[in-house]
Amino acid sequence: MMSEHKRFQYEAIGDMKADIAALGLDIPLDKNLELLKRPVQVGNKVIPNALAIHPMEGCDGTLDGKPDELTFRRYERFARGGAGLLWVEAAAVVHEGRANPRQLYICAQNKESFQKLLDDMIKSAKKEFGSGYKPYTVLQLTHSGRYSKPEGKPEPVIAAKNPYLDGNLPNDYPIISDEELEKLEDRFVEAAELAREIGFDAVDIKSCHRYLSSELLSAFTREGKYGGSFENRTRFLLNIVDKIKARLGNSIDITLRMNAYDAIPYPYGWGVSKEDSHKPDLSEPIQLIKILHDKGIKLINISCGNPYYNPHVGRPYDVGPYTPPQHPLEGIAKMLRIIREIQQSIPDMAVVSTGFSWLREFAPYVAAGGIKEGWFKLAGFGRQAFAYPDFARDIIEKGAMERDKCCIACSNCTVIMRDGGKSGCVPKDAKVYGPIYKEGRQGKPPIKGEHVAEHI
Ligand SMILES: Cc1cc2nc3c(=O)[nH]c(=O)nc-3n(C[C@H](O)[C@H](O)[C@H](O)COP(=O)(O)O)c2cc1C
Repeated sequence: MMSEHKRFQYEAIGDMKADIAALGLDIPLDKNLELLKRPVQVGNKVIPNALAIHPMEGCDGTLDGKPDELTFRRYERFARGGAGLLWVEAAAVVHEGRANPRQLYICAQNKESFQKLLDDMIKSAKKEFGSGYKPYTVLQLTHSGRYSKPEGKPEPVIAAKNPYLDGNLPNDYPIISDEELEKLEDRFVEAAELAREIGFDAVDIKSCHRYLSSELLSAFTREGKYGGSFENRTRFLLNIVDKIKARLGNSIDITLRMNAYDAIPYPYGWGVSKEDSHKPDLSEPIQLIKILHDKGIKLINISCGNPYYNPHVGRPYDVGPYTPPQHPLEGIAKMLRIIREIQQSIPDMAVVSTGFSWLREFAPYVAAGGIKEGWFKLAGFGRQAFAYPDFARDIIEKGAMERDKCCIACSNCTVIMRDGGKSGCVPKDAKVYGPIYKEGRQGKPPIKGEHVAEHI
């Protein structure tokens, strides 16, 4: 158990290797980065390299859910940065399912703005890398479920009671009905149709981080056709997949970002051992991914944990809301083990891995090692893309990332989000996000280990 926040900065890869060995971890490393430059085939489409930018909400849309100035800026920077897979952040399919008043909302009235967002991304990428270059683009579709906050105050939509996550919710707080869930399935289909018309390569039925579809996967205690058995708990997600296929055929790919391990005790968490929630049990997640694969899904992005409840699980950090109970490398090793088990159980699936930002400039070696060892096919970067949008270009063209540009896992991008601001990297994009951070912190107690002042 670590007793306080610790800032890590390895001087050389050997120092990180020494910690990996001292902790008895299995983390693959390879200095040959060639595999990261290779295209990845997904069905009949090609992702131009094995580097991905994860979906990352900027909370910077207009109040009616259109991409706004900072949204366009972020995606233009990502597109110019050279990652082959650009996964656009969570866009709500209904207003009441938005996680904040500035979350993107994909609906007919906002279609033109989303069209501009995608067109600008493709144009920027082609300008940098040539007219023959095209990144693979995904739009993540979401209902924020218990984390819905469409007007800035919590308006939870819960699929099942959960003593770990319910907080102050009264005992008689309503649970979303089967009829409402069935109607929501259709909203996802409508959103997918818009994404297809706009020209995204794929839609992601977001099923991670305990938002609505993710919560349903663990709705062991829910009654009715969306709760209890494996078949019932996966019904919402699989119905959406089937309905999209029925409406749109193969004209748009379907993918999903799925939690494989919630790290919340059974019967309230998904992918956990019934005896010990510290241990993953991937039998159900793998069973589900096999069903999805049989339905034609060829790409899946794996994540873990819940950013509100146990953020150290899915986004290892140095400074954050609590002192992490483990060395960040232990968290990364655990996530990679989970991802390896999934990839090796469904070898045909292109699995996108999570867990690289904390590794800073050494991440490419883990990405290359994991791909070489067959643990995953693509390496996805989240916070790193806020800090260092050109990371992929540097890996591909220079064979290295620059330490000074790297994410330092300070969690300030998350702090901005929780404070209701527009999110980005405070230390490395300080001119834009320093003032936003400061404004959001006004009148609030300092965060343990806060060090933003050094950067702005
Ligand atoms: C500010 C912020 C916004 C995020 N928004 C999303 C999102 O919209 N969808 C999603 O699936 N994950 C989201 N995530 C999680 C990231 O995609 C990623 O899984 C996480 O940061 C761990 O990867 P990393 O270590 O490379 O940062 C967000 C994370 C942060 C810090």
